[in-house]
Amino acid sequence: MASLDYDDIQGILLQERPEKYVGMYLLLQIDDSESGRSVLKKLLPEITSANRWEKPSDGAWVNGALTYKGLEKLGVPKESLESFPAEFREGMSSRAEKLGDFNESAPENWEDYFEEERLHLAIAIFSPDEERLKEALDRARKVYDELDGITLLYELRVSSPENGLSHMGFTEGISNPAIEGNELHPPLKGETPLKAGEFIIGKENEKGNIEEGPTPNILGNNGSYMALRKIHLRVAAFRSYLHEKGETDEERELLAAKMVGRWPSGTPLSLSPDKDDPKLALDENVRNDFLYKDDPKGLKCPLSSHVRRANPRDSLEDSIADVNIHRLLRRSTMYGPLLPEGELADDGTDRGLIFAGICTSLSRQYEFIKSTWLNDGNFIELSEEDPITGNKAGEGMYTIPEEPFRKRMHGLPAFSVTKGGTYFFIPSISALKWISELGEN
Ligand code: HEM
Repeated sequence: MASLDYDDIQGILLQERPEKYVGMYLLLQIDDSESGRSVLKKLLPEITSANRWEKPSDGAWVNGALTYKGLEKLGVPKESLESFPAEFREGMSSRAEKLGDFNESAPENWEDYFEEERLHLAIAIFSPDEERLKEALDRARKVYDELDGITLLYELRVSSPENGLSHMGFTEGISNPAIEGNELHPPLKGETPLKAGEFIIGKENEKGNIEEGPTPNILGNNGSYMALRKIHLRVAAFRSYLHEKGETDEERELLAAKMVGRWPSGTPLSLSPDKDDPKLALDENVRNDFLYKDDPKGLKCPLSSHVRRANPRDSLEDSIADVNIHRLLRRSTMYGPLLPEGELADDGTDRGLIFAGICTSLSRQYEFIKSTWLNDGNFIELSEEDPITGNKAGEGMYTIPEEPFRKRMHGLPAFSVTKGGTYFFIPSISALKWISELGEN
């Protein structure tokens, strides 16, 4: 079994955030290599390793990630830059077609701080409360405020849901794979952990290989990649659609649950198909312990529901082993205030999800899930997109298997719009140090 270096791996890879937190992504542009390396140097003692997660310094969790352009700006040698995988080098906006970012979600409509040429470094700071967040932010801002050649592009404010439910009314962040050898976050009852190489560069993966990572090893090993996306959610449109299609609150809740594959509490439809049973969601061992083999037609949990598409578990003809090479660690969080309960009209406020999918192969894991499973219905023999992430505005369709006849929901609006996104490399702590010392000899 791979042993994991908890002191070298950034905490966000091996640990989950607590239930309640507030946070900020500081998005920075580096115009001067030396200043950039100086930021890294000053940041290093603040970075929360997996080992320090339980007791982060001064009560805030700090993690850092770099884009390809960021690595270039920091003076990473050409041979090393070329050793990064093509999709990371190209950047997320160049992959828009594959990722289904068209119509309103097309890169030309993205918020400008996501521009590949300018976005170089992200510092993620999370804390249990506002006070400690402010202190940590003041310290971080001081690091770059004093330097020329560093520009703050944007401060992206995020938080955990106030009442436990996210904008769309669901509990999120429930299902995440366990990592072999991660004693800080052991597998749930009956769960087989995935090989560490699916999430940590330099370790054996589910195919039994150690995939070639960026070179030299000090740069690649113990690092990972992250697909970060700002997804605006049309909460009013979602609620209005449910009101249009369902006559009672129960009918609306069932329809929403059929789209997601879980009830608001997090209880999976596979375990409780007809109504929410919140006590099942209280136990993390129970709420994640299900497969789809007893529901081949999707009568309990529709084939096209978000969670079944995003992780089909044992429901594909291929073996479960093939599903295991397309998994993600999700560290998503939400931004913007909740739309008041019961409100059906859009109030014009920007709210949504900062999706963060972590993996060692952006193409085999993140891009595959988004394009083959969420966007394209061929694998479930349905020509429809995922009802939650699809963007065929007004032309979407959603199938709910029922006996004797399936139900088809037509005219599904786009409930989400991509406002921007970037591929990041999350270096190990020794890699950050290595980069920060480039050019010193
Ligand atoms: C429109 C934005 C999205 C919303 C509102 C959303 C919401 C949800 C919810 C409510 C769950 C169930 C609870 C949980 O396990 O966390 C979930 C699960 C999941 N989502 Fe999303 N999601 C969104 C976008 C995405 C994207 C873009 C991806 C991947 C490319 C993704 C991948 C997953 C995965 C892998 C799971 C876990 C499935 C499982 O293991 O059973 N989601 N999502």
